[in-house]
Amino acid sequence: MTLQLWTGCVAATLNPALPQPYGLIEDAALVVDGPLIGWVGVRSELPAALAARCGPAQDAGGALVTPGLIDPHTHLVYAGDRAREFEMRLGGVSYEEIARQGGGIASTVRQTRAASPEALRAQSRPRLQALCAEGVTTVEIKSGYGLDLESERKMLQAARQLGQELGVTVRTTFLGAHALPPEFAGRPDAYIDAVVAMLPVLHREGLVDAVDVFCERIGFSLDQTRRVFEAARALGLPVKLHAEQLSDSGGARLAADFGALSCDHLEYLSPQGVQAMADAGSVAVLLPGAFYFLRETRLPPLDGLRQRGVPMALATDCNPGSSPCTSLLLMMNMACTLWRMTPEEALAGVTRHAARALGLADRGLLAAGMRADLVFWQLDHPAQLSYAMGANPRLRTLIEGRVA
Ligand code: NIG
Ligand code: FE
Repeated sequence: MTLQLWTGCVAATLNPALPQPYGLIEDAALVVDGPLIGWVGVRSELPAALAARCGPAQDAGGALVTPGLIDPHTHLVYAGDRAREFEMRLGGVSYEEIARQGGGIASTVRQTRAASPEALRAQSRPRLQALCAEGVTTVEIKSGYGLDLESERKMLQAARQLGQELGVTVRTTFLGAHALPPEFAGRPDAYIDAVVAMLPVLHREGLVDAVDVFCERIGFSLDQTRRVFEAARALGLPVKLHAEQLSDSGGARLAADFGALSCDHLEYLSPQGVQAMADAGSVAVLLPGAFYFLRETRLPPLDGLRQRGVPMALATDCNPGSSPCTSLLLMMNMACTLWRMTPEEALAGVTRHAARALGLADRGLLAAGMRADLVFWQLDHPAQLSYAMGANPRLRTLIEGRVA
């Protein structure tokens, strides 16, 4: 089989083995060997024997090439919206108050339960399409608006089917412990029993890649979180956690004990929590869309995370209540403008570190042997990806070497 050869491009490889910022290679050549990257480097150094096996060089016209973007935290499968609650919040009612009054997640649960599988897919599809249109090739999608076996299954199946339809990788996370459904009002521990019973069933059906919990005053306690994590561990499933978003519950330390892939949100993460994440090798998935949309003022402890070497990923958190957002590029801009992350950190956050937050070792950087998930951009420097607001400079996406 002949290999594809791309030239005339600037490659932001994100490969930490390369000394330049962004792992940047000017005047790069890139060889695609079936579904994988065969070679990437300075064009003049392309080995002649390899060049001989390639088809005619395809000129990228000076485009920037990056790994396919990865959105490692979304709730994009849901029905309805919460625009009326947005109005209430702007009138001064808080997100927590709305949740306590039976709105919030519970209102999306009502609408998601009522939706047919087709309607749920039809409403969710444009959100996944919007992400893909901006160069996203791998997306994590959580359940958590069903909160009973049948409705959680419906959500996870919708997520899997949309991924197949659009030809992108979808990783599904079971978030049964997202909120207390009305039929369990006042009985959170009984609901956790139900969650622990749902998990093996959905796992057996091949619908679960990881397990998440909303550990918070308005979510579940540390003890309840531990019970769900123990059930995940018994099945060999990795865990993630919505932790320290609205308060410091100590969730990150618990998650670290379970070797969590990631802890997400983290505005109230303590220094002990940072240390625990560093020791466990967990990724910090930061969600600037939710920070912005809920008008939070407390920043995640970026310096602490940097000092301890905790990898920082970025995600849209696409959901109807705290981040109705389908632009990962906008998240990069917000992380830089609101939190002073660097554009290089932002790009690593939606590629290399995002891959790790999903436990995927085969993508997130451009190097021989990695999946050939690539995006060509009409840009000449990777900082431009974080700089512009609302632009979409994507030219072309390859997924496993094929034009998407
Ligand atoms: O990540 N915090 C919990 N889950 C979502 C919000 C879900 C919702 O409000 O519908 C989040 O912010
Ligand atoms: Fe979330």
